Amino acid sequence: MTDQAPAAESGTQDVSDIAGGPGIPGKPTSASRTTLSHIMTHNDTNLLGTVHGGVIMKLVDDAAGAVAGRHSGGPAVTASMDEMAFLEPVRVGDLVHVKAQVNWTGRTSMEVGVRVLAERWNESAPPTQVGSAYLVFAAVDADGRPRRVPPVLPETEKDKRRYEEAQIRRTHRLARRREIVELRARRAADGLDD
Ligand SMILES: CC(C)(COP(=O)(O)OP(=O)(O)OC[C@H]1O[C@@H](n2cnc3c(N)ncnc32)[C@H](O)[C@@H]1OP(=O)(O)O)[C@@H](O)C(=O)NCCC(=O)NCCS
Repeated sequence: MTDQAPAAESGTQDVSDIAGGPGIPGKPTSASRTTLSHIMTHNDTNLLGTVHGGVIMKLVDDAAGAVAGRHSGGPAVTASMDEMAFLEPVRVGDLVHVKAQVNWTGRTSMEVGVRVLAERWNESAPPTQVGSAYLVFAAVDADGRPRRVPPVLPETEKDKRRYEEAQIRRTHRLARRREIVELRARRAADGLDD
């Protein structure tokens, strides 16, 4: 089950000052924000009897993929998943809500932020947060090549904070990847790795 917030009026505004460069109209965060809900059953458990982390990760990837596809208006693939945190165990009979939105956009990639909430399926107590994750999706064309994405237009103060935090994560991801590539090149030049 998914739901989608109504698109904001500013959906066609060009925000080349935010990301992505001139030419592609921006899309507000709310246009692709999505919630995926699922009741956990005995098929979802690990050997301890609580819900397997991989089941939650699949839901996270599914919800984030829907958001990335909606924002980019076409196919998008998971490029990376980081900072997946499991805060509380999820149990059989929990109704799990996976809430996802585009936090940040680059040229062809998008960071999607996901929050996982759980509540008993037959109780009216408020849901508790049981996990969170950040994923990067790349929009691709029919041949699997990266294609441009519309810049996301953060709408609320929370959206703007998430945008800035995503930019920090992006900087760290690129720096980490560059350092590892350089380390491997140095080791290969010294003949240390077979
Ligand atoms: C993701 C993929 C399309 C990137 O292709 P590529 O030829 O490396 O293209 P680029 O280097 O131009 O990267 C495209 C964008 O993705 C980003 N990206 C690529 N790899 C990334 C990674 N590991 N983490 C974060 N971002 C990444 C790049 O920064 C770039 O973003 P930008 O255009 O906004 O700056 C390609 O690696 C791929 O198809 N991977 C498999 C995806 C898949 O099948 N996922 C499902 C898993 S079963």
